[in-house]
Amino acid sequence: MKNKIIAGNWKMNKTRAEAAALIEELIPLVSNTSNTVIICVPFTDLELAIRLTEGSNVHVGAQNCHWKESGAYTGEIAPSMLKEMGVEYVVIGHSERRTYFGETDATVLARTKAALNAGLKPIVCIGETLSERKEGEMEAVLTRQVVEGFKDVTAEELTNIIVAYEPVWAIGTGVTATDEQANDAIKYVRSVFARKYGKVAADALYIQYGGSMNDGNAKGLLSMSDVDGGLIGGASLVAAKFAAIVHAHE
Ligand code: PGA
Repeated sequence: MKNKIIAGNWKMNKTRAEAAALIEELIPLVSNTSNTVIICVPFTDLELAIRLTEGSNVHVGAQNCHWKESGAYTGEIAPSMLKEMGVEYVVIGHSERRTYFGETDATVLARTKAALNAGLKPIVCIGETLSERKEGEMEAVLTRQVVEGFKDVTAEELTNIIVAYEPVWAIGTGVTATDEQANDAIKYVRSVFARKYGKVAADALYIQYGGSMNDGNAKGLLSMSDVDGGLIGGASLVAAKFAAIVHAHE
């Protein structure tokens, strides 16, 4: 059986002082888990997070990276810059970036490839909106996001990728997908990967659920057959809540 990968997505939260307090509280709470623990923090907290988590089982990720190695891209960060710091993971294509910052399947693919080339492990987010689900377009949207967003990704590269299925209607809303909705959607996503990469590779792929996962619902969600972990926003900002999710299924 796979262990679970539990990643916190802090989004645009936590000053350095706040980050230090949260990380110091979190480390002892999760030190004995068999699950993988990742915190994806703002760029300004990365150096601190890497330093404070040294020697612990908490891994550090960023929340975005550009697809070019360097150049005139004001405000962007290159994957090699993250790698040099000691960052291991990077969230790519979060729905907030797709909605507010013009992220498309093509830019998701470009960022993912660049992250992989730099030796980072991308956490690639996909998921349908409420209207897409209501219109019966969920499967078509997820298929497009996988087919287009992973177009040039090789089977070998896929082994370094985590996918996060995050229904947009469940993110930050307090409305969680039911255990079955999450599992069914992830099963579907896995079947799309299987068409391209084969069943063995698709079964080995880690696919997380994200969207209002918390210390109350994590056990049910993480107990489902195809839910390989969680990408947690709000509840990752409180050490005790995030730790409870980490320990919900081990
Ligand atoms: P949420 O966010 O847990 O606050 O819903 C999840 C995410 O956006 O990754």
